[in-house]
Amino acid sequence: MTPPFAIFVLFSLSFFLCCCFNGAIAADLIQETCKKSAQKDPNINYKFCVTSLEAVPKSHNAMSLKSLARISIKLAKTNATRTRSYVKKLSKSKTLNPRDKPPLTDCLELYSDAVDSLKAAVKAFKSKDYSKANVEVSSAMDAPSTCEEGFQETKGGVSPLTKRNKDMFQLCAIALSIINMVSKELTLKEEL
Ligand SMILES: *[C@@H]1O[C@H](CO)[C@@H](O)[C@H](O)[C@H]1NC(C)=O
Repeated sequence: MTPPFAIFVLFSLSFFLCCCFNGAIAADLIQETCKKSAQKDPNINYKFCVTSLEAVPKSHNAMSLKSLARISIKLAKTNATRTRSYVKKLSKSKTLNPRDKPPLTDCLELYSDAVDSLKAAVKAFKSKDYSKANVEVSSAMDAPSTCEEGFQETKGGVSPLTKRNKDMFQLCAIALSIINMVSKELTLKEEL
């Protein structure tokens, strides 16, 4: 091999290895974090956690717990935003059973507030105010269960939002768990 070619090979090889390595670290980080979250919180399903986080393209470059926390809050925000649009559409539907109108109206308001809370959580997390981020995500987490309960109160009502509510609840639980890991990590560092 001529030297320039050898250098080229070495360079490409290290570039390639570096990429694989980064991907592997990110995958490990997600799995480890989800494992810990699922152990601590019975509401969190390990597989749901890994699948949800890995579905975010950015997560493949996540090298730290902090970036994973940010991704998880944004994931809950996107989910809440989509469900809000869906509820809006449902509540305007002509085939809607009048019985479902009041609970849907409540859900729309609940999800709108949840989207605002999650936006505030992203901001708080960015400015390292982890306790505020925790409060905002916790508040958003109330939306799915309150929304679901609304349908149980109507006579013979069946919630059209059960799956979405469950997803949202769990995504908030995951975000909360990772935020708490980040703030714990920080306290440990400060104690040293
Ligand atoms: C919410 O997140 C879950 C889990 O990642 C996903 O399966 C579901 O499709 C999302 N729902 C919406 C409305 O985005």
